[in-house]
Amino acid sequence: MSYKISSTNVKTSPYSNRRDLSRRQRGLGCQARRPSSKAYSTVVDIDYGASVALDIPSPTTTDRSVPRITVPLSSAVFREGSVELFGFTGLVAVLTILSRLSTRDELVRNHCHSIHPTLGRTRFPLVFTYTHTRPLMTLATIGTCWLLLSAMILTSQTSFASSATKPKSQAKRLTLDTMYPGLRKMEYAVRGKVVIAADQISDNLASGKSYPFDHIVYTNIGNPQSVGQQPLTWPRQVLALVDLPDAVGIQHPDILRLFPADAVARAKEIKEGLGGHGSGAYSHSKGCRAFRRDIAAFLQDRDGGLPAEPEDIFMTNGASAGINMMLNALVADSSCGVMIPIPQYPIYSATIDLLGGQKVGYYLNEANGWELNMEELERSLQEATEQGIKVNAFVLINPGNPSGTVLSRTNLQDIVRFCAKHNLVLLADEVYQENVYDENAEFVSCKRAAHEVGLLEDDGIELVSFHSISKGVFGECGRRGGYMELVGFNADVKDELYKLASANLCATVSGQIMTSLMVRGPDQGDVSYESHQAEKKAIFESLRRRSKIVSDGLNNIPGISCQTATGSMYCFPSVEMPKGALSAAEKMGVSPDTLYCMSLLERTGLCVVPASGFGQREGRYGFRTTFLPSEDEMARAVEQIREHYHEFCEMYA
Ligand SMILES: Cc1ncc(COP(=O)(O)O)c(C=O)c1O
Repeated sequence: MSYKISSTNVKTSPYSNRRDLSRRQRGLGCQARRPSSKAYSTVVDIDYGASVALDIPSPTTTDRSVPRITVPLSSAVFREGSVELFGFTGLVAVLTILSRLSTRDELVRNHCHSIHPTLGRTRFPLVFTYTHTRPLMTLATIGTCWLLLSAMILTSQTSFASSATKPKSQAKRLTLDTMYPGLRKMEYAVRGKVVIAADQISDNLASGKSYPFDHIVYTNIGNPQSVGQQPLTWPRQVLALVDLPDAVGIQHPDILRLFPADAVARAKEIKEGLGGHGSGAYSHSKGCRAFRRDIAAFLQDRDGGLPAEPEDIFMTNGASAGINMMLNALVADSSCGVMIPIPQYPIYSATIDLLGGQKVGYYLNEANGWELNMEELERSLQEATEQGIKVNAFVLINPGNPSGTVLSRTNLQDIVRFCAKHNLVLLADEVYQENVYDENAEFVSCKRAAHEVGLLEDDGIELVSFHSISKGVFGECGRRGGYMELVGFNADVKDELYKLASANLCATVSGQIMTSLMVRGPDQGDVSYESHQAEKKAIFESLRRRSKIVSDGLNNIPGISCQTATGSMYCFPSVEMPKGALSAAEKMGVSPDTLYCMSLLERTGLCVVPASGFGQREGRYGFRTTFLPSEDEMARAVEQIREHYHEFCEMYA
């Protein structure tokens, strides 16, 4: 008898034993035929010259520790590209191989041949071929095979049913090779390499390892409450009251001794708005109607009376969820492009990559305070169009992340005209609308700019504006609240977006409540009005001071240049890289600014993000930092950056 594992699935070792087979080519032949995937190869190795070891990888495994079957050499013969197994030991080896493959998944997936009427339901990756003429012997062997195989398959199925665990030999179904490639392509620098290293150092510090600093200063992400900002009192009071069951909250006899009357009154109103269900039930998929009315009133007030419709407002889990929804709708196929600023907040590049669309970058003008230049927009659009990209949308971040810039009214008017002229959906990321620190600067919404150039009235633009409770002075990032307002879209498109929102059920209700409290605080004259305004002002003024400490401080370091942050929460300085750093980075296979940021982290404990994660002109290097930690901490950080840069230049001179 011989059992042959053919060359499609066997790699013989260079030490193959080439014994003459002819004497033994009798009996039942068993030929393994398996689908032609590389991962299916079975590695054959000679073990001390006395036996042959067959490593049996599962079809998709990348794991080296695959099961090994050892067969004495007396039962195996090697031929060009194959190994044949003989006798009872050979038969057992073949059956063992079969058993390795006979998991339920492989039986279903490997789409081979039924081998026996009793296993008719089963599809199996191996085919037996009859090659011998001695009928009795053959029948006996076939019978044994069937019996053994049936037993093994039954055992494997029973063990599936009973334990529901995978056999050790089975590969993971979801691997880097099987997953959606867009997910692997997507990068999100704000939580990238340097941050992972910072977390590791933080753990090391906690377990006693010594560094030249005693804690990590996280300035990598706009997450104010994670670096010391206290939540505003009144919104939290209202939220707590909405969350509490009535009997221990708004209906408690002593409630007015514990909470201000305006917080209790607002909590009652919110509970009513939520239909009496409280914060633990799903709301309307666009968000609770009462909150959307609050948002519409806020927008109308902000935009000088321009009407806003609650039905055109979708409440979202932070601005991110709205951005995601819109990009999902816009990136119809791989030829669709979205214009994004360079530098940009990486949710845009990441999501476009994830969806398989095209990023069409337009450069912001650093020398001119990161403003948008119309010729640059036309250049970028034209180049993309010439490459066959269908550009559908234009992303504007104002005030800018990471640029820290507040765009002027005329700049905004030019941008809305540009979008209208080229029929681009304008995605207006306005999450930093409250973070404007320069007295000479003013936040102007894209909707207002569109109105001022007559585009709203003409139905001349499709525009979405995003806002969030994560930024401004609320800094309630973890509550995931925000909204988007749709302007100028067809009703059927809005219906489809509503369907998408419905598939996600609703945005978190506590995030919705916070959003309504952000757009509608206590009324003037209410008991909490003054204290609420004072808390907001204190946070705002401190942010204003920090923006100056950091942008001026960095700009004063020779070799580092930083535009003044007139808004948002970030500075995006450029750093002159010493020559040695460029070659060292190349050798290490990292960007020069990653090398710089890693070095800064390891020497000072400051965690910033390499500028390359946001996009920048070729040959520019730098980093992004927030100015969210305390004023003292930020002042210290600037000094540390100065000292470290000096050292860094000496080290890589
Ligand atoms: C420009 C910009 N847009 C959107 C977001 C998303 O914020 P969230 O989803 O927390 O509202 C951020 C967060 O940093 C941001 O900087």
